[in-house]
Amino acid sequence: MKVDGTPYRSLWWDADADALHIIDQRWLPHDFRIEQLDSLADYANAIKDMHVRGAPLIGATAAYGMALAMRQDPSDGNLSSTWDMLNQTRPTAINLRWALNRCRDLLLGLPVSQRGQAALTLAHEIAEEDVDINRRIGLHGLELIQEIAAQKADGNPVRLLTHCNAGWIATVDWGTATSPMYHAHDAGIPLHVWVDETRPRNQGALTAWELGSHGISHSYITDNAGGHLMQHGLVDMVITGTDRTTRQGDVCNKIGTYLKALAARDNEIPFYVALPSPTIDWTVLNGLKEIPIEDRAAEEISHVQGRTEDGRIATLQVTPLGTPTANPAFDVTPNHLVTGLITERGVCEASEAGLSALFPEKSAATSATKG
Ligand code: MRU
Repeated sequence: MKVDGTPYRSLWWDADADALHIIDQRWLPHDFRIEQLDSLADYANAIKDMHVRGAPLIGATAAYGMALAMRQDPSDGNLSSTWDMLNQTRPTAINLRWALNRCRDLLLGLPVSQRGQAALTLAHEIAEEDVDINRRIGLHGLELIQEIAAQKADGNPVRLLTHCNAGWIATVDWGTATSPMYHAHDAGIPLHVWVDETRPRNQGALTAWELGSHGISHSYITDNAGGHLMQHGLVDMVITGTDRTTRQGDVCNKIGTYLKALAARDNEIPFYVALPSPTIDWTVLNGLKEIPIEDRAAEEISHVQGRTEDGRIATLQVTPLGTPTANPAFDVTPNHLVTGLITERGVCEASEAGLSALFPEKSAATSATKG
């Protein structure tokens, strides 16, 4: 996608520097900063402190981190300790473990002399695959938006609501929830997107930045406004991303997603979740019982970051000094509240049968492991 007319991906390999470059998302939407990752500690910090964020992007970044480690020391011991170090950076998004496992499965079968180059090639493959997967999610989601647009005889915009940022900067490109929006806009379908602010970190501001850069009409709303808009017939469809989806179709996503799904159900509004297949955790059935929910720092709630009138990026405290906080970063929306899952292979019911029909090889591998 473009930033001020220049095409970017959210990460890219700089051959001259022989290093990965990322967009440091901590400063968006106020400042566009690029960071070069030079050490394994840089990679771990970038994921943990959310310089990069969003499930697919975390996975791709981890693969490049493994490549750096393997080029420095391709031993089994270093492979294992790098896997451990990167895997513990963030607990909920499953793409991280998926990418690390994919690296480990390939590298353990190779002589150490080949591991450095093979790990880098695999990281490039994972990044390219993510772009293609998200493009295909967009084409399947476009069909759903076209159906709604066709029912609007008056040519009024299709009104979508999204939560958090499941946009191109949460992936390598296109985004998951935003990919159908970009495709629909580019196909000439009038859209308006309600963008939840998504406290505490306000990832909605990233979505607003993305949609604004692409010329898509949108409004930034408080997290509590969605239900009211739905009750007044102002939302046609909800599309969110997900950090981990279980094999029965429970969806773990940014905190507050569940409340949007409840409001959508009460108002008979379709609630879709867009996801690349690496976000499916085939080892987990019940999301409420089995997915670890990341607890994040108190400062994310007690303070807000923004731009001052004189252009500085500043952090302000909003709570009384010493106020106790709780900051669970994700919640689980049970499958019965999800209208459908938009994947790179098509749209399916949020159920084990639905996902198995689209991904029979994964489902069979899971059954074989269980058996
Ligand atoms: O904590 P974050 O910002 O990494 O959380 C991101 C989300 O919850 C996204 O909605 C999800 O990862 C899907 S991104 C394509």
